[in-house]
Amino acid sequence: MADKSLPQLLASYRERKHLLALLKEIQEVYGYLPGEFIPEIARSLGLPVAEVYGVGTFYSFLSARLQGRNVIRVCKSAPCWLKNCELIVETLKRELGIGPGETTRDGRFSLQLTNCIGACDQAPAMMINDTTYVDLTPEKIPEILGGYK
Ligand code: FES
Repeated sequence: MADKSLPQLLASYRERKHLLALLKEIQEVYGYLPGEFIPEIARSLGLPVAEVYGVGTFYSFLSARLQGRNVIRVCKSAPCWLKNCELIVETLKRELGIGPGETTRDGRFSLQLTNCIGACDQAPAMMINDTTYVDLTPEKIPEILGGYK
């Protein structure tokens, strides 16, 4: 159960420039960005529904679906791609039994692909929640995942 209601969250963010911060907090509180919140957010900030929807669907850290307790974001941008990030994605798919955009049945992990996470010089890279993992190899993946049981 969310520890803050939508009206409480809306009361904390009154200006248009706060849209992204508001969406991020809703994501943190609810585990995703419920689509039915979009019109109320738009009304509260005085923004078009299309703009709120556009921002809410643009960023990979915002999701319209409930996320697992641990969200894995594998970088798919060019430097990581050149360092075989596909092997990392394939290993994660095999280990977790899910593909990008999916969540394990036990709700432990969600797997996503994302753009650069700022660790290009140590590619391939991924994040799990707020922790960044770099210089990845398929062999490192089981141990990393084991830390999130
Ligand atoms: S391209 Fe992957 S971290 Fe920057």
